[in-house]
Parts: sequence; C-alpha cells; structure tokens
Amino acid sequence: MAERDLFFFERSTHRLDSLEACVKNRPPDVKRIIFLIGFMGSGKSTIGPILANTIGYNFVDLDVAIEHREGKKINEIFSERGEQFFRSIERTVLEEIAARADKTIISLGGGTIANEETLRYIKSTGIVVYLKISEDQIYKRLHAKGDRPMLRDENGTLLNGEPLMAKIRTLLDKRTPYYDRADIIMHTDDKKIGMTIDELTKHLRGLIET
Ligand code: S3P
Repeated sequence: MAERDLFFFERSTHRLDSLEACVKNRPPDVKRIIFLIGFMGSGKSTIGPILANTIGYNFVDLDVAIEHREGKKINEIFSERGEQFFRSIERTVLEEIAARADKTIISLGGGTIANEETLRYIKSTGIVVYLKISEDQIYKRLHAKGDRPMLRDENGTLLNGEPLMAKIRTLLDKRTPYYDRADIIMHTDDKKIGMTIDELTKHLRGLIET
C-alpha cells in the first residue's frame, strides 16, 4: 500500500488517538476541511456555523450552495428534475466547494454520503463528523416540516404518522453504515447545542490547525 493510501486508511479509524496522530502527520497537500454529516434534522446547519465561529473556520452549507447555483429550492429541483439529477449536482457542487475550501466546515445533505465513492472522497479530503440522533428525535423534528423532498410519497404528498416513521427507518437503515464510518461520531439526542459545540471543539482541538 502506498504511503499516502496508508495515511488515509489509518485515518479512517474511529479511534481519536490514532486520528490525532494521523492528522498531525498528514501530507502538506491535505486541506483543512471538516465535513458535517448526519440525517435530516440532525442539526448540521444549526451547529455548523456556531462550531465554525468557535474554531475560527468558514462555514458552507452544501444545500444552500446547490440552491444558489440552480436558482431553485431543493424541493423544486427534486420535483422538476428528480433525485438522480439532484445527486449529480450535489456531487459536482461538493467537489467545487471542497477544491476551493480551506479552514472550512462544509455541512452536507443527509443523503450526500450514501454513496461509496462520495464517502471515500470526503474521508480523503477532510475530517468527517457525524451528528447522530435517534429515529424518534428525527420524527419529532421533521414531522411538521414540508421542505424535505425525501419525506414525501411518490405523488409529492408529505408523509406523516406511521408512513413517515417507516420512511425514516428505511433511509436510516440504508445510510447508517455510511454515517458510522465518520472519524468522529457525536450523539446529539437531548444535548443542548452549547454542550455539543463544547464536546466537538475538545475532540477537534489538536486535530485541526486553527
Ligand atoms: C436530503 C437531505 C437534505 C437535502 C435533500 C436530500 C436527504 O439535506 O440535501 O433534501 O437525502 O437526506 P438536510 O440533511 O440538510 O435536510
């Protein structure tokens, strides 16, 4: 295995001590990027800007960048062009942002990493932080919101009650194996935002250059 591959392989471990060693010894061309991942409603867009402010990083929300580029809301992109089109735009915009980013937190959509190639790409480009919440919390946070196309049925009608819970479970089952490969896994259920920020800052200290 080439030295560079070994570096990335080692860094994919969940153990923070080896992550620390690997990040400190990283090759100079590796960028200072933190990717925030997690299911819809996990708090990526809320926690991201506060964490960025705390550690002196920039913040970019991938969904906002996609909307800006397309001149349309995510819901409209899904209803007019479908999920496959959205996923290809999502990947293109992600790479464009990451190519220019330095000392930046990039918040991804809940489904961005449900793809082996994309997950490998972000793991080789930065530190991946997973904000993990339970299916009950997800339901509570999302059941009254209409801005998530993945939580609509095939006719575009908003899901609620048992069908919504079933959809959340199906997506979680499919995505959890990808989420679980993050470098840092932060449980956010019932945790105040300030506490999450404090814990993340502690974990990241020593792993990032500020
Ligand atoms: C999606 C999550 C959304 C957005 C799009 C698809 C998903 O982002 O990218 O609606 O597949 O889970 P958030 O996780 O920020 O809601």
